[in-house]
Amino acid sequence: MEKKKIILNKVQLGDMTTELPKSGEEFADCLITDPPYKIITGGNCNGANSIRPKGILSGNRQLFTHMTEITPHDWFPIVYKALKSNTHAYVFTNALNMETMLNAARKAGFRLHNILVWEKNNCTPSQYYMKNCEYVLFLRKGQAKYINYIGGSKTVHKFNNIIGHKRHPTEKPIELLKFYIANSTNEGDIVLDPFAGSGSTMEAAIELHRNFVGFEIDPKYIHM
Ligand SMILES: C[S@@+](CC[C@H](N)C(=O)[O-])C[C@H]1O[C@@H](n2cnc3c(N)ncnc32)[C@H](O)[C@@H]1O
Repeated sequence: MEKKKIILNKVQLGDMTTELPKSGEEFADCLITDPPYKIITGGNCNGANSIRPKGILSGNRQLFTHMTEITPHDWFPIVYKALKSNTHAYVFTNALNMETMLNAARKAGFRLHNILVWEKNNCTPSQYYMKNCEYVLFLRKGQAKYINYIGGSKTVHKFNNIIGHKRHPTEKPIELLKFYIANSTNEGDIVLDPFAGSGSTMEAAIELHRNFVGFEIDPKYIHM
């Protein structure tokens, strides 16, 4: 049988469905991930600088990339096994994918603590209310565990999005990720992100003196 080996603090190139199980089970102290899912795009409008949303009438189209070949039912059981008991998981989603994600999370064994809302300083045009937030499933494996800043953290939290040059189309701001990491881990803990993209979760973990385990299937995003 292949020996299990945890590779810390380096984003590993590969498909998480085959590579993550090689790290073994119950080693991670927290999951923070922005997984691939189907999106509908209508362009961007950047807050106060926009007179009217660009692309609202012409830009809507479904984007499918190789990323969407994997479904939440494929990867939730894998990340569940990788987490220790009595830990937290943060999973980014949008309104259209939330039901599928939550069903898959529950089927894998997770329990829902809360739905968090990241309020952004920019918005995506829509004819059905313009989107200026993203949703995060805040889940637990095992017994309920308090967050570190009990009473000081609200379900709706405002952090600036990255506007302009991004290293990845869905790159997340480091300060937002640090907020989740600080609330659910302690120094030296292992943060898992199996869909690393540009490595923003990893950079947040490093800044807070946490270890990380990360995977990314597309070599063009790997730089750490
Ligand atoms: C939504 S993006 C994450 C972006 C990231 N949050 C950031 O800040 O840059 C999802 C990433 O998962 C990667 N991915 C898709 N399927 C994968 C798989 N099976 N194994 C590992 N990575 C995968 C994609 O290439 C993509 O970069």
